[in-house]
Amino acid sequence: MGIATEIADDWHAALAALAWGVEAGADETIGDGPINRYALAAEAPKPVAAKAAPQPEPAGSDPVAVAQAAAAAAQSLDTLRESIAAFDLCELKRGARNTVFADGNPEARVLILGEAPGAEEDREGRPFVGRAGKLLDRMFATIGLARTSPDAGTALYITNVMPWRPPGNRDPEAAEIAMLRPFVERHIALVDPEVIVVMGNTPLFTLTGTRGILRARGNWSQALGKPLLPMTHPAYLLRNPAAKREAWADLLSLQARLR
Ligand code: URA
Repeated sequence: MGIATEIADDWHAALAALAWGVEAGADETIGDGPINRYALAAEAPKPVAAKAAPQPEPAGSDPVAVAQAAAAAAQSLDTLRESIAAFDLCELKRGARNTVFADGNPEARVLILGEAPGAEEDREGRPFVGRAGKLLDRMFATIGLARTSPDAGTALYITNVMPWRPPGNRDPEAAEIAMLRPFVERHIALVDPEVIVVMGNTPLFTLTGTRGILRARGNWSQALGKPLLPMTHPAYLLRNPAAKREAWADLLSLQARLR
């Protein structure tokens, strides 16, 4: 959540207002003055919604049905990106600066599916560019894979279940996952990787309907007709460095599968 503070005459009053905001969950300053977003919504379209994209006609007001129709209509990654950016039924979009679609090489053999953008990803509009993302890059570099590689054999394609940052980096809710799942499935179908790596519980749940990443990690299964490797999320590894040993084993297992 962001908070805009008015300049108070009294330093102590300003500090108290700031402390109140932090306690209420504000974790970022987003402007110098207060903004009435209810008034704005009536006047101006949201920046991330600005691009008109093909939104297929009435699937009713059921967000999952609307998402299914929009996803099915997307025939390329570009149109899918536009469809997601134009999808207005997820509340998370209202608080996001950017729609975070994907990064890396769409020809890659390996697709990494993460959870949702954090603050840095939201600012930059690219997945996994913060601390966890830097660790992710280092981890996959140890087995010779990189999102910047032009060669499909050594490349990565990276995307998230949620294209918008949840406030305060909370976990996405089941209803939010359900409404974005059609886009995720279409995204994977269009990229058509050989292997999917899910990082953390949210993508594991999205593709398999199960949770428990600490039990599932390292155990290959199938999703969308493709081999799926669950791994612990790099943010978890930053908090629990001892778990890096298991992550290393998972990377070696991925490397062996690709040989
Ligand atoms: N964590 C994720 O799951 N995805 C990102 O893009 C960043 C952090």
